[in-house]
Amino acid sequence: MSIVAHRGEMLHFLDDPAQHGDAAWQYFPDGALVIEQGHVAACGDARAVLPQWRAAEVIAHPDCLLVPGLVDTHVHYPQCEIIAAYGTQLLDWLQRYTFPAEARFHERAHADRISAIFLDELLRNGTTTALVFGSVHAQSVDAFFTAAAARNLRMICGKVMMDRNAPAQLCDTPQTSFADSQALIDRWHGKGRLGYAVTPRFAPTSSDQQLQLAGQLLAQNAGVHLHTHIAENIQECEWVAELFPACADYLAVYEQYQLLGRRSLFAHGLHLSEREWARLSACEANVAFCPTSNLFIGSGLFALQKADAHGVRVGFGTDIGGGDSFSLLRTINEAYKVQQLQQNNLSPLRSLYLATLGGARALDLHQSIGNFTPGKEADFITLKYRATPLLEFRIATCKTLLEKLFVLLMLGDDRTVGGVWIMGKQMKTDAR
Ligand code: GUN
Ligand code: ZN
Repeated sequence: MSIVAHRGEMLHFLDDPAQHGDAAWQYFPDGALVIEQGHVAACGDARAVLPQWRAAEVIAHPDCLLVPGLVDTHVHYPQCEIIAAYGTQLLDWLQRYTFPAEARFHERAHADRISAIFLDELLRNGTTTALVFGSVHAQSVDAFFTAAAARNLRMICGKVMMDRNAPAQLCDTPQTSFADSQALIDRWHGKGRLGYAVTPRFAPTSSDQQLQLAGQLLAQNAGVHLHTHIAENIQECEWVAELFPACADYLAVYEQYQLLGRRSLFAHGLHLSEREWARLSACEANVAFCPTSNLFIGSGLFALQKADAHGVRVGFGTDIGGGDSFSLLRTINEAYKVQQLQQNNLSPLRSLYLATLGGARALDLHQSIGNFTPGKEADFITLKYRATPLLEFRIATCKTLLEKLFVLLMLGDDRTVGGVWIMGKQMKTDAR
């Protein structure tokens, strides 16, 4: 097997810079990332590393910043066709746009076609791992995992469980959702780089019996994830209070069926109480911050400071198609503005951490991906300082790494992503 050393400017994280300051990140202006059999063998200053790897083929990356692959902790692949749908907020948006689009996934050929489009779009945007909603149809997940395996991607997906308050053709039953989910777990979980997430859509579209069976799936299948939505929209929260009058709050609905744990990810969490934040923290559960979606469908502003104060792990989500961009760079841009509106500065180091190692931690995948420590799977990307004339012009005025990084993140999008490597193999080639 050949050994390859990628040489260039590189940045990665060992920890959360919000907690560990400058000890949390490593920056090499002239770095070397050595890849052997798809994994990181070494990462450091090129002049120190390369003499120890004389057999390595060296590939240079000028005018780029090399960083770990980006992690999207919440996205819906069946919603590719409804990105940028006009004029509604969550509950109307689901009825008018989302459910009709998801109904088309009863056809395997459609699911195959959209899976390929979705994964190619993720890669074009530098996203190498995601936690993904399928549709209610089990075969939507078969199609997705087949396409992800063909690209050798580390992906987590699950079939939506939804047995009420949705069109009849999109509803399963507690029993069929349980059996279909278990069959998908048996077929796909732990196969290569794939993992399964038990995926009740959100409390309003599941009966108590279905949520209880979701808890049973988690209990009987060690290592699977739990993926759902929480407290995204005010009307949604009021509806949950009506549907589950015995529960003290929204999170209590999920808590009573043991859906909270280290591998649970709750999308949004815009309208959570102190009690709910404290419980998320105590259970080591994770939250996806989805700023493009929260702005696009008018849901609210995510309180990152609350999550931080409670020590709740956060990752970024694009939430396609509630969100209007596949790009985690665009997501970082909107996240910055959402924090600005709350007098909070989201630093460039923190946001790149959240999009890489932070996302990997929120998915409990940090043993495998998220940074360049030896042994990690070698998923990485290059970001081009000269991707657009404006970026090139503005970068030329920057004096420090942090200035350069902030400009790159704020002005970056899919054009900024040069190459994408999956376990050391190049998937996207830089055209410029
Ligand atoms: N809540 C329940 N379903 C959905 C969905 O598909 N997208 C978003 N953003 N929120 C939801
Ligand atoms: Zn969502």
